[in-house]
Amino acid sequence: MKKILFVTSEVHPLIKTGGLADVSSSLPKALAELGQEVKLILPNYRSLKLNHEPTLRSVFLIGKHTVRILETFLPDSQVPVFLVDCPEYFGLVGNPYVDGFGNSYVNNAERFTLFCRAAIEVAMNRAELDWKADIVHCNDWQTGLIPALLSLESLCPQTVFTIHNIAYQGLFNGLTASVLQLPPQLLSPDGLEFHGMLSFIKGGLAYSDKITTVSPTYAQDIQTPELGYGLEGLLIYRNDDLTGIINGIDADWNPEIDSLITQKYSVETLHDKAENKKSLQSCLNLPVNENIFTIGLISRLVEQKGIELILDCLPELLGLPIQLVMLGSGDKNFEQRLHQFAEAYPHKMALTLGYDEKLAHLIEAGADVFLMPSLFEPCGLNQMYSQSYGTLPIVRSTGGLADTVVDTLPKTIANKTATGFVFHAENSGALLETIKRALLLHDFPDAWKKIQTNAMTRDFSWKSSAEQYLALYESIESIEFTQ
Ligand code: ADP
Ligand code: GLC
Repeated sequence: MKKILFVTSEVHPLIKTGGLADVSSSLPKALAELGQEVKLILPNYRSLKLNHEPTLRSVFLIGKHTVRILETFLPDSQVPVFLVDCPEYFGLVGNPYVDGFGNSYVNNAERFTLFCRAAIEVAMNRAELDWKADIVHCNDWQTGLIPALLSLESLCPQTVFTIHNIAYQGLFNGLTASVLQLPPQLLSPDGLEFHGMLSFIKGGLAYSDKITTVSPTYAQDIQTPELGYGLEGLLIYRNDDLTGIINGIDADWNPEIDSLITQKYSVETLHDKAENKKSLQSCLNLPVNENIFTIGLISRLVEQKGIELILDCLPELLGLPIQLVMLGSGDKNFEQRLHQFAEAYPHKMALTLGYDEKLAHLIEAGADVFLMPSLFEPCGLNQMYSQSYGTLPIVRSTGGLADTVVDTLPKTIANKTATGFVFHAENSGALLETIKRALLLHDFPDAWKKIQTNAMTRDFSWKSSAEQYLALYESIESIEFTQ
């Protein structure tokens, strides 16, 4: 049995900006189900949605900051969550990383350094919690300093660093290193230095025992100049320690038990799915018609997600017999341009700007297809959610999308593996052609239902991925043992 400290900057349902929060909730629960002792640690943001008042467990100083460790549990589980309380850093209302205008907080380097240092005190059993971690599992740049700082300690836990998105690196002005009082031996080009800047993610990539990313294809993608964002050399160098482990999905994303949708359904009662489409159309003021081909999208509205490809083909797309339902927020320019189309085509396109958990579930249940034309995608969760709802994903073949969606072709129809629609070229023509291909097949209800059945019966549960993480944790120990 391993004692695992899972370090993350967001976890569903306490606080979420994207898929990292879903993974940070499901993977620790799946590891606990495999008999491991897992504890989470995350900043005590003011906006956390907590059901109960957490318990105060420990107080200590980091530099001049008083840090309190509070304890709560992941809702509906026995998995403990430590909250790093430091109101001067985490006491603002809002998003964990950016202010109301979408700008990064100016003191992000200080905020996440303090978080990392506090997590190290907990992991090393120096926080009077009577618990020492065997493994510290870090996620994304916000936790990158942990493997770096732990490398300077003796008798320290082993470290795993998971890349959820290499495009976000935690890059700061080189002079920040002295403000943060980082040990000089960490600041070399082999360490945290990156073209004169201080790189938090390099702490994870250079110093962790093992590196993982969230799909096998993305593990290859990030070793190329196109998608490595300048870190491909380091990743090629660490290739032997790098694995791609695909994310699973939480059991909640299941139309048979989903209490956020209008009508529950299963593969046996697929006709009930139409009730969700009608209720989606009616709540978004679109014409209610269960036969109209409905395209859903739920996304951060950022370049990564291929929003530009959609905008490029929107005039033609909106000329087809379809409805388009979009939910998301992000880049103000994308928001504005999409808004103009939604205003011009109120009977065909509904755009909801913002974050809405309930609407996200209804879109998954009510749409016929789900659009994910990402330029790159480390894993992606919505294409898997969509499949379990019989809402066929239309995706670009990259990263986790390539690993989880099987294109509908004569061969894959025949061998019952087809689960969606895949295109390759990074252009709007290829996207539009693929949407038209799906639209055409939708006119053949029997064929469509077969693909839905393939999609809905695929196993996207966390168990086998959690087993791969466990095998990885165990492999680190055996290497050290044989040395
Ligand atoms: P990423 O983490 O890159 O944003 P993922 O596909 O891994 O992409 O995960 C996105 C998660 O965030 C999904 O659970 C998705 O449903 C959710 N999500 C994204 N935008 C919204 C939104 N505006 N409202 C509700 N949920 C959203
Ligand atoms: C990141 C990636 C996304 C992935 C998620 C969870 O946000 O952009 O593809 O699914 O992390 O690993």
